[in-house]
Amino acid sequence: MTTSLHPALGEASRNFLQREHGLLIDGCMVEADSGRRTDILDPATGEVIATAAEASATDVDRAVDAARRAFEGPWRKTTPAERTRLMLRFAELIEAHAEELADLECINSGKPRVFCRNGDVVGIAEMLRYMAGWTTKMGGQTPNVSLPGEWHAYTLREPVGVVGQIIPWNFPLNMAMWKIAPALATGCTIVLKPSEQTPLTALRLGELALEAGIPPGVLNVVTGFGNPAGAAIAAHPGVDKVAFTGSGETGRRILQGASGNLKRVSLELGGKSPVIVFPDANLEAAAAGVCSSIFFHAGQICAAGSRLYVHERAYDQVLDAVARRANSIRLGHGLDVGTEMGPVISRRQLDRVMGYIHSGQEQGATLLAGGGTTGERGFFVQPTVLTGVKPGMAVHDEEIFGPVLCAMSFDDDDLDRISATANATTYGLAASIWTSDLGTAHKMARRMQAGIVNVNALSSPDSALPYGGYKQSGWGRERGYDAIEMYTEVKAVAINLNV
Ligand code: NAI
Ligand code: MG
Repeated sequence: MTTSLHPALGEASRNFLQREHGLLIDGCMVEADSGRRTDILDPATGEVIATAAEASATDVDRAVDAARRAFEGPWRKTTPAERTRLMLRFAELIEAHAEELADLECINSGKPRVFCRNGDVVGIAEMLRYMAGWTTKMGGQTPNVSLPGEWHAYTLREPVGVVGQIIPWNFPLNMAMWKIAPALATGCTIVLKPSEQTPLTALRLGELALEAGIPPGVLNVVTGFGNPAGAAIAAHPGVDKVAFTGSGETGRRILQGASGNLKRVSLELGGKSPVIVFPDANLEAAAAGVCSSIFFHAGQICAAGSRLYVHERAYDQVLDAVARRANSIRLGHGLDVGTEMGPVISRRQLDRVMGYIHSGQEQGATLLAGGGTTGERGFFVQPTVLTGVKPGMAVHDEEIFGPVLCAMSFDDDDLDRISATANATTYGLAASIWTSDLGTAHKMARRMQAGIVNVNALSSPDSALPYGGYKQSGWGRERGYDAIEMYTEVKAVAINLNV
């Protein structure tokens, strides 16, 4: 392991990085059965900062057994009020370790530390508190039935059971908590598999959950690769539900694996989200929003606004402002003060993003900004703007997951046609509309085939708002009450009072 860790790292995160990380199963850090380990990198330097255990199917079996025992045992006996208290305590511990978590999230994911600290860490504590509120408020109903005679009928909302959660590398803390919090709130137990590239903060969260008093076996963390560990979770007959965030390709594999025991499946699969700027919008605010939406975290965001449509009356002004901003973004190590954009996660991701940029140029698109890599080490891609993009080009049709904006203009004022163009994609995660006309805003919101619509905003990161996609952007919704529904089964009980 390298000894040249970034000097801005605090002592707590340094100590954590130096530990020999195992799998967190049944409340204990254990070695992986295979004894194999994976290098964990700092994407800003490409250097090894830690190693993590590589779980196999045998380890997944152990974790699922532990989760099952906790589900049938202590967790089932916990009252809703006790679960709320434990979750609130967990949130407090996250805040008490906020600097350490922000350090680890930054050095492993590459995202600037200020965002990790003020966005991700704050956000996951809020998510826990939000979901902790539902614990004592969720419940069934007493439907009015019309059966002959007298009946008493009601529904129960019960935990779905042992849930497998497979998450990606772009937002390791957030993706973990969006899945952990509703599962804890509803009384499920968890086998969480973080990305093989970013397992560190999930392991730390698992430890903090134990420290908060959440019983061993409720939150198990198995680190390792999609194949074998993720695939074993998806196919496991002892897992009642699998929740996944990541690529469509892997989502389809998970679906196939899950078909054996017909476990419940929820999928959040990214997108190719449109940003539509009308000429009556606040164009400077729109340009800033466009840039944040695609360049924040180097575009490695499932809801990134990657297709820009600007009315031709505003096109030159908006594109000038976008290019100016793109060229002025400060790239660097996330721990360096003043860094606005970090690297992409890996050499592989860098190659993938550069491949898209080159294919766009080969197919006739023009570079307005960026287009290259930068830095002497690490995986940095310049904020890139392509114009002259057309449907059918890979850069237009496919999720790039990098800082690459495809800009297009429209000369129409017909909202049906504008929305039809923006909706002409297999994805349907998010859409962002920029206008000062209330009618245009509401009409466009109705016309967009997307699970998330933001007006005069690039995102809406609130725990209460459901998050998920139409079409091939996935199945189900995370956050909000919808997440509670995803982690519960409904039971209808009917009692014949005439007998
Ligand atoms: P991926 O979808 O393969 O990986 C995400 C998670 O799934 C990781 O934990 C991985 O270990 C796991 N996984 C991989 N193969 C699996 C399998 N057969 N069974 C069960 N779990 C499995 O994403 P990857 O390969 O890291 O990135 C490729 C592309 O996917 C990106 O360029 C991007 O376009 C997209 N992506 C989208 C994300 C989103 O938030 N929507 C997040 C990450 C990637
Ligand atoms: Mg993959």
